[in-house]
Amino acid sequence: MKVVVTGGAGFIGSNLVRALAGAPGIGEIVAVDDLSTGSLDNLLDLPVRLFTGSVCDPDLLDEAVAGAAAVVHLGALGSVPRSIDDPLRSHHANATGTLSVLEAVRRHGVGQVVLASSSSVYGANPVLPRRETLRPMPVSPYAVSKLATEAYAVAYAACYGVTVLPLRFFNVYGPRQAADHAYAAVVPRFVSAALVGQPLRVHGDGTQTRDFTYVGSVTSVIVEAVLRGVGAPDVVNLAFGARISLLELIAELEAVLGRRLDVVHGPPRPGDVRDSQADCARLRELFPSARRHPLRAGLEATVAWMSARAFAGR
Ligand SMILES: NC(=O)c1ccc[n+]([C@@H]2O[C@H](COP(=O)([O-])OP(=O)(O)OC[C@H]3O[C@@H](n4cnc5c(N)ncnc54)[C@H](O)[C@@H]3O)[C@@H](O)[C@H]2O)c1
Repeated sequence: MKVVVTGGAGFIGSNLVRALAGAPGIGEIVAVDDLSTGSLDNLLDLPVRLFTGSVCDPDLLDEAVAGAAAVVHLGALGSVPRSIDDPLRSHHANATGTLSVLEAVRRHGVGQVVLASSSSVYGANPVLPRRETLRPMPVSPYAVSKLATEAYAVAYAACYGVTVLPLRFFNVYGPRQAADHAYAAVVPRFVSAALVGQPLRVHGDGTQTRDFTYVGSVTSVIVEAVLRGVGAPDVVNLAFGARISLLELIAELEAVLGRRLDVVHGPPRPGDVRDSQADCARLRELFPSARRHPLRAGLEATVAWMSARAFAGR
């Protein structure tokens, strides 16, 4: 079975390639990535063929996707602040990119496509936990582009009979998540600052909550989805219903590192949602054996990976 992973050189993508490489029945793994935020380092020593270029390039997609049984579409420009700085660029990579991938899937009769959307689509809707039937109220260009991603997937299932599985990820963290750029996510930012003895910068008072999800839990669900050919007529939250504040996250990190950490507070960021917690009933129905990785263990793995990388000078 040939599986294509767009965004395969990124954080979640490279963890997925690793998980697919160890799964039974996966014959060939292909990655498509323009290396805009991903890195070749992430794919070192993995049995994967990389097509370097954009998911908006139909010729590149034709080469990569031909003969594939499944496409996992993760290639996108993440980050709410990045999309606020350059909304057209995020729209192009995320919305047009998704449409281009779905067109390639259609041209090549690919059996299944799994896609990454984001909890940010719930946006200003105050209801918790986040059930998929809630009205999306995106408050950033990134969230709008992810809403387009999942809506195109549902439309392709309806119009062309493509088997789709649009998944909403919630604050995924773990090894191989980049900390070294302006738009880094909160966990790698905190871990990296803590490891070099800098204060952790919190936007707002730190009581805002997130459903932090370890990357291994995400890749396990996607591998199972690919092996079983799981599709869904509508979007599915991929998180486990935790509601952890940034202050609690910092306390866990302090426990992992065995020392107190300095914290500085700044103003809240535009486009950020206040609280986030998944309702996981749909996930449980489709993947009864999916398991949440405990936060402490996930942070330990993240700290170990980032420390080893710093030690290796990368
Ligand atoms: N990490 C999270 O917490 C989170 C939460 C919600 C949704 N997501 C979604 O999950 C997916 C993977 O995110 P990630 O955290 O691994 O981010 P990442 O930035 O590490 O990975 C994205 C990858 O896509 C590649 N890419 C970007 N634009 C591209 C283009 N036009 N053509 C080809 N490749 C392109 C990048 O080079 C990178 O390797 C994204 O779709 C993101 O929107 C992530």
